[in-house]
Amino acid sequence: METFTLYNGIKIPSLGYGTFKTEENVTAKVVQEAIELGYRHIDAAAIYGNEKEVGQGIKNSGINREALFVTGKLWNEHRGYESTLKAFQKTLDDLQLDYLDLYLIHWPANAKQFANWQELNNETWRAFEKLYADGKVKSIGVSNFLKHHLESLFEFATVKPMVNQIEIHPGHQQQDLAKYSQSLGMVVESWGSLGQARLLDNPVLKSIGEKYKKSAAQVCLRWLLQRDILPLAKSITQSRMQQNFNVFDFTLSKEDMEAISILPEQGFSELNPDEVEF
Ligand SMILES: NC(=O)c1ccc[n+]([C@@H]2O[C@H](COP(=O)([O-])OP(=O)(O)OC[C@H]3O[C@@H](n4cnc5c(N)ncnc54)[C@H](OP(=O)(O)O)[C@@H]3O)[C@@H](O)[C@H]2O)c1
Repeated sequence: METFTLYNGIKIPSLGYGTFKTEENVTAKVVQEAIELGYRHIDAAAIYGNEKEVGQGIKNSGINREALFVTGKLWNEHRGYESTLKAFQKTLDDLQLDYLDLYLIHWPANAKQFANWQELNNETWRAFEKLYADGKVKSIGVSNFLKHHLESLFEFATVKPMVNQIEIHPGHQQQDLAKYSQSLGMVVESWGSLGQARLLDNPVLKSIGEKYKKSAAQVCLRWLLQRDILPLAKSITQSRMQQNFNVFDFTLSKEDMEAISILPEQGFSELNPDEVEF
């Protein structure tokens, strides 16, 4: 599979398999199926409540650990130095792994909830740098960080974040934030790449897809890849997992890329990192 390369030389497979809202009782099975279909990048998080089952799916697949790229995320209630170190160890134990490929701060502490939001993000990051220095994680990054969160953290960080994972899809493009993150040397990953299925009936995406004999979902993923964004996609349905994986055998024309880039805002999750209260 194609890869993106982080500034520290670590390579990430160019499509990630998402695990948000995957029920515990199916998680081990679908993670194993995804690996058998060829996915080599699994996006997990403590708050999804299924890390043990993700770990079981990885184990059941029998794949070599080195062949797989596994991401974990620190949940918001564990911000701070000591609690981050503890939460990381629980994630590692639940996944039955002895290192992670990427660990992300799931959401920034924001000014709406915390007068000391900058300090809180910095203290969390200090623990991330320790985990990185100790070799327990091969790369470290953030998620849902807006420009001001990044500016503040970049001032503090000794090891600069390598990834920003944010909501991006044709209905919520975040062009400025993506470009800004990339200008800081980060790889941008997209969550909700299919608009969490809210975009898949869009007539423009469907008619563009017909030209290439592809679905609206595949058009979304291809559009992201051609913008140098690494898409994550979740499906528990084998045919869709397969479909989402088959996005490396066609190229959207310049005209089609532009037609998608001017689509009006739609399918946004409404989760603004400055406004959320979790
Ligand atoms: N950092 C963050 O804050 C954050 C937030 C949200 C998500 N994420 C990560 O990003 C991943 C992807 O985002 P997401 O899961 O929210 O949304 P998504 O991947 O945009 O959409 C998932 C939905 O689309 C459906 N679907 C998938 N492929 C399809 C296809 N080819 N045709 C029709 N329907 C399809 C799935 O249904 P079925 O499963 O029923 O097939 C599911 O309902 C997550 O799983 C998670 O790992 C991160």
